[in-house]
Amino acid sequence: MPNQTFTTTLNQSILTKPIISACNLNHYFGEGELRKQALFDINLDIYPGEIVIMTGPSGSGKTTLLTLMGGLRSAQEGSLTILDQQMCRANQQQMMQVRRQIGYIFQAHNLLTFLTAKQNVRMSLELHDEYLEQDIDGMSADILKAVGLGNRVDYYADSLSGGQKQRVAIARALVSHPKIVLADEPTAALDKKSGRDVVEMMQKLAKQQGCTILLVTHDNRILDIADRIVYMEDGRLADNPALTLGEPHRFFD
Ligand SMILES: Nc1ncnc2c1ncn2[C@@H]1O[C@H](COP(=O)(O)OP(=O)(O)O)[C@@H](O)[C@H]1O
Ligand SMILES: [Mg+2]
Repeated sequence: MPNQTFTTTLNQSILTKPIISACNLNHYFGEGELRKQALFDINLDIYPGEIVIMTGPSGSGKTTLLTLMGGLRSAQEGSLTILDQQMCRANQQQMMQVRRQIGYIFQAHNLLTFLTAKQNVRMSLELHDEYLEQDIDGMSADILKAVGLGNRVDYYADSLSGGQKQRVAIARALVSHPKIVLADEPTAALDKKSGRDVVEMMQKLAKQQGCTILLVTHDNRILDIADRIVYMEDGRLADNPALTLGEPHRFFD
């Protein structure tokens, strides 16, 4: 019997078109003799509202694929569609347009430490011209409350703990209600409890907003928040039935 995740994914694939779709995607670093292939024939469809976790050994190509799927790196060969935009041979303006609809969370929180939590979140809204100046403050404070930092809104980023900083980074990524959130090892610098809190927060907010999450992690303690897990090895997506059928612990423990 297919389990629920599998059935949901199956239904989605029949009813909805992917929000991100990679087809025979290859990627290379370097030139001439130094040219080295980092991604091989990647085929991956991600559907609206899904939480997909990508895992696999260090150096297997996870960050390379994530940055391509976020429009942060130019796609070279094959096909990659993000939010209906073909990214192979896309120009700078087309890439910018895609990036504006994506929230990013990195391993290091990348907050500006000389700004307060709210000022850091505000910056993300100020980059979009559709928000009115008088709304920006309230929206920033509200999302900080939603990640449990209502009492830290005016604290400088420098004075927050690692887990709190990462929650500010989540607030900053989600405040503009992006359609897609990409996270690269968001719990790597956190202890077990903070790491868990942070991903549960992401999961809750994303489900409320209906946004799609692609999260790269080594951390097998958080795999259960995923609707689907994909495994990368040596630049290829591995077809592992134990993973795609939603039984990650059997594979990792
Ligand atoms: N900017 C770069 N220049 C050259 N090689 C790179 C670059 N970024 C990554 N690589 C190589 O591509 C491969 C995949 O790296 P990466 O995507 O960072 O893996 P992961 O995130 O799974 O650890 C590795 O062999 C890495 O050395
Ligand atoms: Mg990486």
